[in-house]
Amino acid sequence: MKGRKLEIPPHPPLTKGGKRGVFISFEGTEGSGKSTQARLLSEYLKKKGYETVLTEEPGGTTISREIRRVLLSTKHDKMGYMAELLLYNAARIQHIKEKIIPALTKGKIVITDRFSDSTVAYQGYGRGISLRLIDSLDRIATDGMRPDLTILLDLDVEAGLMRNKHINKVDRLELEDVKFHKKVREGFLKLAAKEPKRIKLVKASKGINEIHRDIMRIVEKVLKALIARESARRLAKLGGTESKLEIIARRRVTGA
Ligand code: TMP
Repeated sequence: MKGRKLEIPPHPPLTKGGKRGVFISFEGTEGSGKSTQARLLSEYLKKKGYETVLTEEPGGTTISREIRRVLLSTKHDKMGYMAELLLYNAARIQHIKEKIIPALTKGKIVITDRFSDSTVAYQGYGRGISLRLIDSLDRIATDGMRPDLTILLDLDVEAGLMRNKHINKVDRLELEDVKFHKKVREGFLKLAAKEPKRIKLVKASKGINEIHRDIMRIVEKVLKALIARESARRLAKLGGTESKLEIIARRRVTGA
């Protein structure tokens, strides 16, 4: 079945000229439940008729998955912070080019489990690498591309690490001490305070279904706003006034 396509202005500057869908990222510290919530959101949007692409960082493509293996192997305890930073960026470049941009230009909703905010939080606040350097590299890697919406799942660091222990999930970064993960959480919270329009904080200490409902509400609102903005933009471009039919169509999607 062919899903609904979203006709929203291109994602500057990477999808210039083309159509574009909606870009949503999930962020959070270890064990915050991002992957589960990203999957639930994707299933929900699919049921509503949208075409979605569920992906992750580092990963999402063959090359990026290879880089992920190198980054997260517990054998690689000699990896320097700068090598780590460059590898996360390398994986992202490939992910954007091979997967994110092609899906967005087809009007799909891309949901990624982690994106650039993770680099700021982990390599910047966690490792202590200069935020200016991270920002410069990010411009090379993403060309300034940002998600339309970022869901930040916030959870007490110890509780999250404990959750992962129960499912036997261990990787190189998780092995860092609690102090490191607390700095990462602080980093995420600072980012959310700096960009409240894009980054929406969701408490991850609640039950899975309750968190999913919170996220659905946020996503619905953002989709409506994007669709309304696009219909206003198109109208302004045509230089005309809304016909009765257009008003009905707009009200149907935006409720306004
Ligand atoms: P995941 O286990 O949530 O898939 O993430 C993989 C690990 O990589 C996790 O410990 C967070 C870390 N990470 C960074 O340190 N920097 C980044 O830019 C990204 C995307 C992930």
